[in-house]
Amino acid sequence: MLLIKGGTVVTSERSFSADILCTTDGKIAAVRKDIEPPIGSEIVDAHGLLVMPGGIDPHTHMEMPFMGTTSSDDFYTGTAAGLAGGTTSIIDFVIPEVGQSLFGAWREWRRKAEKSATDYGFHVAVTHWDEKVSQDMGTLVRECGVNSFKHFMAYKNALMVNDEIFLKSLHRASDLGAVCTVHAENGDVISFLQQSLLERGSTGPEAHPLSRPDTIEGEAAQRAIALAAISHTPLYIVHVSTRQAALAIAEARLRGQPVYGEVLPQHLIFDESVYQSPDWLSAARYVMSPPFRDQSHQEALWGGLSSGQLQTTATDHCCFCAKQKEVGLNDFTKIPNGVPGIEDRMSILWHYGVNQKKITQEQFVALTSTNTARIFNLHTRKGIIGEGADADLVLWDPASTRTISAKTHHQNVDYNIYEGITVTGVAKKTISRGKIVWDDGVLRAERGAGQYIERASFKA
Ligand code: URP
Ligand code: ZN
Ligand code: ZN
Ligand code: ZN
Repeated sequence: MLLIKGGTVVTSERSFSADILCTTDGKIAAVRKDIEPPIGSEIVDAHGLLVMPGGIDPHTHMEMPFMGTTSSDDFYTGTAAGLAGGTTSIIDFVIPEVGQSLFGAWREWRRKAEKSATDYGFHVAVTHWDEKVSQDMGTLVRECGVNSFKHFMAYKNALMVNDEIFLKSLHRASDLGAVCTVHAENGDVISFLQQSLLERGSTGPEAHPLSRPDTIEGEAAQRAIALAAISHTPLYIVHVSTRQAALAIAEARLRGQPVYGEVLPQHLIFDESVYQSPDWLSAARYVMSPPFRDQSHQEALWGGLSSGQLQTTATDHCCFCAKQKEVGLNDFTKIPNGVPGIEDRMSILWHYGVNQKKITQEQFVALTSTNTARIFNLHTRKGIIGEGADADLVLWDPASTRTISAKTHHQNVDYNIYEGITVTGVAKKTISRGKIVWDDGVLRAERGAGQYIERASFKA
């Protein structure tokens, strides 16, 4: 047994002094003041520390085949890096190839993820449509613990689905009691703009944001919301990066529509100037979609998070090393899209959010775990601190600092987008299912220790 003594427990609701007792099978057995240590228990001194639910990152891409290559963090290295930053669960994406069975792809991803150090679940992407897809969606929801499906409105001629397929999938998900998630950018417009930029000789990373204007994220978000309304399906919009998309979500919510928005910490702090670097690789390393934007959008993202109109933070962790990015040396449309971040999400959000008084520490918990757990129906086990919940915890030192660097991070990638930033607010210890797996700078991640998270349908 593990007894965490003397800390301040922070939940999405309140902060209070209490000890936490964890059982050897990884559950929380008690949360109250002055718990007597059971014989043989290990005691962790949490004086001066905040004890919060371990982070849940609902948007990662470990070892994902994408744009002709495979993201460099696998399920072990990526989740281990997450533990070093206080994240104890991920929801990754099963991406079937066009024509591949959803169920077959889910089995393939289950195999790949067996090496995970944290617990993991899956959203399953719908990349085409036929009767088999519809059947597999049923199997995945009823028998495989999947309650969310993903749709790409971008990446034309690859992952993108048109409105008809998206609507069919939304309708099927609604019948099954599942949530639909969506990457909202207009892929047809992007494809056209990419071609015209290339024809005009704009081949470098500085063309990337020009090919993906803010307006067409807003347009796609509006369209996704309209389609979800027709099919009465809860909709979760990933990586909201614009004021327009944030507004569309807020307006839908005012109409009573169940629509949720996710924000990535990188969109809160970087702007489009990252693409202006004279050094090709420095700029290419920030190529992700949606791109970094005019700084004025950041106000809406912070406002959405603090007002509750945007509910979650994720990383979209998707790593590509220099050699992989360099495939797009002469053509920005071939630079693999994606940036690392799972290790630093919590510190970045704390440093720029809580320390800057943009959000409270309780909101921090809501935004890093609790809201995600509620939206994706795992809130009886994760994102909370209470008897019977999984003992996934982070002991947070709000006063400690660290300087982020690729030289010291645990992510399997040769750069860090936050290189050189010194953050105040650090994960001191991370506890996964009752075991200390990150201990003041020492990573004790265990390959394969993570378990698959089954998430029930909302109609179950
Ligand atoms: O650029 C990104 N975000 N890469 C990963 C795939 C996606 O769109 O989420
Ligand atoms: Zn129906
Ligand atoms: Zn995306
Ligand atoms: Zn993604």
